[in-house]
Amino acid sequence: MEQLLALEMVRVTEAAAIASARFMGRGLRDEADAAATEAMRRVMDEANIAGTIVIGEGERDEAPMLYIGELVGRRDRSGDAAAVDIAVDPLEGTNLVATGQGGALTVLAASERGGLTHAPDTYLEKLAVGPIAAGCVDITRPPAENCHRIADALRRKVTDITVIILDRPRHADLIAEVRSTGARIKLITDGDVSAAISCAVSGTGVHAVMGIGGAPEGVITAAALRCLGGELQARFRFRNDEERERAKTMLGHADETKVFRTEDLASGENLVFAATGVTGGDLLEPVRFFGGGARTHSLVMAYQAKQVRFIDTVHMFDRDRPPAVRL
Ligand code: FBP
Repeated sequence: MEQLLALEMVRVTEAAAIASARFMGRGLRDEADAAATEAMRRVMDEANIAGTIVIGEGERDEAPMLYIGELVGRRDRSGDAAAVDIAVDPLEGTNLVATGQGGALTVLAASERGGLTHAPDTYLEKLAVGPIAAGCVDITRPPAENCHRIADALRRKVTDITVIILDRPRHADLIAEVRSTGARIKLITDGDVSAAISCAVSGTGVHAVMGIGGAPEGVITAAALRCLGGELQARFRFRNDEERERAKTMLGHADETKVFRTEDLASGENLVFAATGVTGGDLLEPVRFFGGGARTHSLVMAYQAKQVRFIDTVHMFDRDRPPAVRL
């Protein structure tokens, strides 16, 4: 079921990517997000699943679709539909699309029921590494020490590792400490999911993500890194008491010292991850439009099946006037 689910889910991220890519560089972040959300919702309902959104566009009263708790899939029409929990980020990097910068993805993770943490919409402090450095880092230790641990694991000089950090004022001390080791830094304006996956894919030239970003994105990242054998360590960082209370309701506690590991955030055994590039970056090509169609580049993974697929798809918009498919 996992492999079929993976292939159904990539159709969902592909449709969302094509819809949102039309807004690239047009300064319309909300419209780009809405287009991705609508396309994702529409194609998800064609999948043979009895899905429940556990991470989505918000609460029922604040999001028209893909809200937390929404039921999705062809559940009404088929008795054999798999019961799955789904975490979506219809457009990860809305500003990147609005400004035409690389790194935006449409992304989701799916699992058997209960396999994805219902994270509140707050922040997580994250430390992500790929499979070689997995097991060698400790988020409770200083960032400089982790830079050296990552370099040792990769058998590199610390000056030859590259750490990705979101370019935010809250990261001034972190950036200074990482710089003090001599490690190279790639500052990004948005998109820490794509950044973390890149660390776990050899040849991207990046080796770790450090810093504070969205908690929902953290769960989706954990699903991806679990499939890739990488590691995410994370601690909640609440912005206010309202978020603390929400965490208590959703998680049963609001403990900022508790370290969540990859398998805590994405514990499912039948775990599937799908992402499609919208604007293109270290990991995925952008959506490319041409007369009569578009081409998408996606990453699709299934944990149990131990499969990682990069999928290059040509979408023909009009069967009567098909475009010539190019290599
Ligand atoms: P959106 O696309 O939903 O705007 O999120 C992009 C993002 O950069 C995430 O990748 C990251 O985890 C989060 O926002 C960081 O939040 P903030 O912009 O508040 O620092």
